[in-house]
Amino acid sequence: MTGLKVSTGAACSKLLGIGGYRPRRVVDNAEICTLIDSSDEWIRTRSGIIERRWASPDETVQMMSVAASRKALERAGIEAPQIDTVIVSTVTHLYQTPAVATTIASELGAKGAAAFDISAACAGFCYATAMADSFIRSGASKYVLIIGVERLSDLTNKHDRSTAFLFADGAGAAVVGPSEVPGVGPVVWGSDGDQALLIQQTASWDRALSASEDSDGMALWPTLRMEGNPVFKWAAYTMSKTAAEALDAAGVSPDDLDVFVPHQANMRITDAMFKALKLPEQVVVGRDIAYQGNTSAASIPLAIEALLESGQAHSGQTCLIIGFGAGLVYAGQVILIP
Ligand code: ACO
Repeated sequence: MTGLKVSTGAACSKLLGIGGYRPRRVVDNAEICTLIDSSDEWIRTRSGIIERRWASPDETVQMMSVAASRKALERAGIEAPQIDTVIVSTVTHLYQTPAVATTIASELGAKGAAAFDISAACAGFCYATAMADSFIRSGASKYVLIIGVERLSDLTNKHDRSTAFLFADGAGAAVVGPSEVPGVGPVVWGSDGDQALLIQQTASWDRALSASEDSDGMALWPTLRMEGNPVFKWAAYTMSKTAAEALDAAGVSPDDLDVFVPHQANMRITDAMFKALKLPEQVVVGRDIAYQGNTSAASIPLAIEALLESGQAHSGQTCLIIGFGAGLVYAGQVILIP
């Protein structure tokens, strides 16, 4: 018997266009402090957050994803029917099935595209970037639409002062396609399930459902709880090492790096990583958290879009991205900014 045929793809891949959607409603720290015992000053100094955005009922996971994707497609100069694969990273699509990626593909006009969701929390955009790059180089896909989208406000206990001021909503999308020059460096990724309890949903859906047969169903509505301080230390120290490995794997020295966009979890984590990586002062840093909060899988593409729109970053620059969060999971790589 002769061997099976295998597919081969492009030599390299790159991000061709990026787009975001920021919900209309701005929630400042004063509003947050009407529900938790805190202050504008504490929130600003401990997290760097000045305000965040929470989605209104019409700003669904689907709606925000489609809006962000349309911008990414237009900026990439790619028509929706050219997209053959859609990957959505989200932990807040509240349907077990079907994947929201299929209906997003349909609404966009990416008819027949392979479409699926992944659950990799705040590392989701970097996981999806790694998958898109591999699919394109293997020949499984040509143009991949990757989306990070969250409505974390649906899973946030607004009275929990360890999370209420952090979590926010939004969507970020990117089109990844074939390239002759490398535009996505090797991914450095992994997980640590021994620490799964540090960030987790407070109850499973079946427990909430069975309780809803009693009158206190909403009391058991699952939300995200987090032991912030151990997560902070893990992110600031362990993730700095992962980020350094991603730079090394791409053959990019700190002096050659133009832009650094870590997951927007906490401004102090960003500062600690910048210092630990010994990045030169001229490296531009994503600081979108100040006005956007922590939007999990959406935070990296939203922060890149903000740097592009403000003129602080430019197409073709080297950019280190690293995501980390519930799982615990993490992933980082160097990309060229679209
Ligand atoms: N307002 C005022 N005081 C507060 C608040 C608040 N909202 N929350 C806690 N405090 C108090 C505490 O009670 C404590 O007081 P004490 O010293 O008298 O005991 C003090 O502030 C310090 O508390 P810590 O929890 O140690 O505060 P920390 O500096 O760690 O900041 C924070 C908390 C902002 C949550 C931080 O730990 C953090 O950002 N953690 C990482 C978040 C992250 O990276 N998450 C990963 C991704 S999330 C995802 O996957 C969806």
